Amino acid sequence: MNSTNNTFDFAQKVALIAGGTGGLGSALATELRSRGCIVVTVSRTQLTQSTQSPDPNHIAADLRSPDSATAVIDQVIAKHGALNIVINAMGVVAFGEISATSIDTVEEVFLTNTFGHIFLMQAALRKISQGSVLVGISGIIAEQNLPGMSVYGASKAAVRSFDEALAREARKVGVRIIDARPPHTETGLASRAVAGTAPKFPRGLEPVAVAQRIITAIANGETDLPSTSFSN
Ligand SMILES: NC(=O)c1ccc[n+]([C@@H]2O[C@H](COP(=O)([O-])OP(=O)(O)OC[C@H]3O[C@@H](n4cnc5c(N)ncnc54)[C@H](OP(=O)(O)O)[C@@H]3O)[C@@H](O)[C@H]2O)c1
Repeated sequence: MNSTNNTFDFAQKVALIAGGTGGLGSALATELRSRGCIVVTVSRTQLTQSTQSPDPNHIAADLRSPDSATAVIDQVIAKHGALNIVINAMGVVAFGEISATSIDTVEEVFLTNTFGHIFLMQAALRKISQGSVLVGISGIIAEQNLPGMSVYGASKAAVRSFDEALAREARKVGVRIIDARPPHTETGLASRAVAGTAPKFPRGLEPVAVAQRIITAIANGETDLPSTSFSN
């Protein structure tokens, strides 16, 4: 286990989860709330309460722009007075051989997965307090890319590489980075591909198990979660 000596106290900490309406993001939100965190989620979809009024713990925003990322971070800090955890669980996937892939697809995947991640982490690091934790979810594909997934895999390898350098920069200001690389997980992401059709994957991990492993890593001061650190 790659870890530092500190442990993390979740009580009353403010957490922002990008992609918090997704399979992994919503499991992470549930885990963090159960540990006493104040959780704000963000995704493009507006969430409403039973009264049809907007969910006060959700921000509807498209994080494919630096201004949007900065505005979301500022909004959370203005409302809650702090920001202690940022998890980027937003992403899109595309399948298909590169010879049959459009440039629009390449742009959409990189804008969301890579640029969106960089925008969010940059905005967060500029404002987040000492002792905070930032989490990227690059995934197992960042360790070994696969035919038919070249664009998605490359967008995630860039995230892993970014997180590696970010970790060393952030350490200087007392902020911890975790790059998580879970194997295939049963969130339905593959069925929502922005292009192409998913191959038949063996059954993946349960989202709750992956979320719990990431939260344990935050709790225990870990700094890297390779694919081998996840199991059902
Ligand atoms: N599932 C897996 O097998 C697996 C394995 C390893 C790593 N990962 C990574 O884990 C992360 C979460 O995946 P998941 O499986 O939970 O996917 P998911 O269920 O499809 O969730 C994706 C989330 O991202 C949000 N999102 C997409 N584009 C956005 C944008 N432009 N701005 C703001 N939010 C946006 C979606 O909400 P809206 O559509 O409402 O915006 C949704 O909340 C992704 O980065 C994925 O690559 C997944």
